[in-house]
Amino acid sequence: MSSDADSLKAKIDPKSVPLHIAIIMDGNGRWAKKRNFPRTAGHEAGVEAVREVVKAAAEVGIKYLTLYTFSVENWKRPREEVTAIMRLLTRTTKREVDELNRNNVRLITTGRIEGLSPTRRRVLAVATAKTKKNTGLVLNLALNYGGRSEIIDAVKAIASSVKSGLINPLDINEELFANYLYTAGLPDPDLLVRTSGEKRLSNFLLWQTSYTELYITDVLWPDFGRMELFAAIIDYQGRERRFGKI
Ligand code: FPP
Repeated sequence: MSSDADSLKAKIDPKSVPLHIAIIMDGNGRWAKKRNFPRTAGHEAGVEAVREVVKAAAEVGIKYLTLYTFSVENWKRPREEVTAIMRLLTRTTKREVDELNRNNVRLITTGRIEGLSPTRRRVLAVATAKTKKNTGLVLNLALNYGGRSEIIDAVKAIASSVKSGLINPLDINEELFANYLYTAGLPDPDLLVRTSGEKRLSNFLLWQTSYTELYITDVLWPDFGRMELFAAIIDYQGRERRFGKI
């Protein structure tokens, strides 16, 4: 059956799909409010969007997909909401491991994972171990993530390597620095998508987005799906990336 999404998919140039897409999934609360639902219902609907987008990204050959799932600032939300998001994360991770394997998706995480409860950490560790050998899409969940904390953690680790004589301060360059970030080994995002209209980075991948193309849509995260992802990729493919050159 052909659909609007399929006709958009046909417009994607398979030779220049972004290697790495990062997404700020915003608008779950507003989606729920519009329907007079509790905010948690918005997050539940957001999980469905995650499932659809992961599949669609794999389908068009995206190699890395990073989702801003929980920020270091998100702990400041009401306790019930934090618990609901964490429960949803654990429940979904457990439930979807087999599906990730069926789709050849490898799950990894980025952030201060040690700040999550031991139970949550265990579920994530099991899922990352079970999907470790998959060679398709790498699904990177940014959890307890903050761009500034990431940079601070890198600086601390570098300082300690300098102190113990492992590295010479003169050898510190961009490549070395990037290797001390949580995202060491991952390419920088080519495309950053933010849903629900806000035009800011919100402490997400501050170092890594230096040359990333930004795509902002008014669509609320639970309404974002296969078609919206394809539209973002097509928009990206119309950009000219110069990396500071002319
Ligand atoms: C932003 O909407 C959404 C979040 C902070 C949570 C995102 C989490 C999920 C979609 C569930 C995670 C599950 C998996 C498996 C990745 P908001 O609450 O900030 O919306 P608002 O700005 O409209 O209030």
